[in-house]
Amino acid sequence: MKIINLQDKNLFFIGGVVRDELLGKESFDVDLTYVGNAIEYAKTIPDVQIVQINEPFGTVRIKLNDEEIDIASTRVETYPQKGHLPCVCGIGCPLKDDIMRRDFTVNALAKSTLTGEIVDYTGGLDDIKNKILRVLHDKSFVDDPTRIVRALKFSIRFGFELDENTKKLQDEYLKNINYDMSYKRLKKELVETFNLNSQAAFEKFINEGIYKLVSAKSFELPKVNFEHLIREFNPENIWIIYVGLLPDISALPLTKVEKKIVDDFNKLKNNKSFDSDFEICKAFEGLNLETIIMYCSINKDIVEKYLHKLRYIKIETTGKDLVEMGINPSSKYQQCFDFILEHKLKNPELNKVQEVELAKRFFGII
Ligand code: CTP
Repeated sequence: MKIINLQDKNLFFIGGVVRDELLGKESFDVDLTYVGNAIEYAKTIPDVQIVQINEPFGTVRIKLNDEEIDIASTRVETYPQKGHLPCVCGIGCPLKDDIMRRDFTVNALAKSTLTGEIVDYTGGLDDIKNKILRVLHDKSFVDDPTRIVRALKFSIRFGFELDENTKKLQDEYLKNINYDMSYKRLKKELVETFNLNSQAAFEKFINEGIYKLVSAKSFELPKVNFEHLIREFNPENIWIIYVGLLPDISALPLTKVEKKIVDDFNKLKNNKSFDSDFEICKAFEGLNLETIIMYCSINKDIVEKYLHKLRYIKIETTGKDLVEMGINPSSKYQQCFDFILEHKLKNPELNKVQEVELAKRFFGII
């Protein structure tokens, strides 16, 4: 755990950071909660610099020994609009109330900054030991369905399983989804889950019907596994390769690049066969790597052939060569390059001289 030089009987590490420490995993952000008013507390810390205050949420960012640290006040949250951001109330409430607003027992542990003692109101320690994900109350998924995807994320990241009642609550919710939810939050969890690049996550996502949170249209698991291709080629937007296969993800807020990846795939997917390597190259030309890997769900052999072989076959002839042959620039240039490529794909050993011969043939010079 990151060393924080702050000790106070009312100050606790909370949530993921405590879980990760118990699991012996590195934690990227450290959540600290102060039982009482964190803003007032921050002002009493010697040599502190207050960087940012969020009065309504009772949170404060401080700088101490060149390090920025966020401290939250304990708070209660309610979900007046199910599936949306909660309303914050009861700032400065007892630690137990702050704990009880959380998603799973394994995320509901606190650790005193003063004594190092673990506070466990919900059985989180046992659940960590037994690798169990358990919600704190039966309305947890109704309040916040993104927790279903969080459970999937934690199950993959840590090898945890849902306890029986939590699985039952998940199934019940998925049979009766309220689509009026925050898709921005859902997307954040989908990105974190599927960027793990796990076929097992995708199988659970589809087979357990979790995908229905995104797309009401039914979908069957493609019979291919492209985890290894993703590992080999390391595309930037891994998550969209998985989630973009669903029949309808229009509810998710996508970036321009993510939208292009999915739109290109949807156009490409009707193309179920190619008659030549040249056709494959032309179809994949200008597409993002993500779109090409998604096409594995239609024809994996073609994708493997393209990524491992065809895309490295390039012609050497340039526009300058054609100018030197006395050909005026026109759209015929591209047709000529394609003509050469088509030959080169059949015979990758073609050298530049042979390519120029082909160009001359194309323009009827010889
Ligand atoms: N939390 C929750 N419901 C959510 C999101 C978060 O109850 N939908 C609570 C959990 O107690 C969680 C804490 O808020 O531990 C902090 O959230 P976040 O930083 O998103 O989760 P971490 O558990 O730290 O997970 P990660 O390691 O993926 O950041």
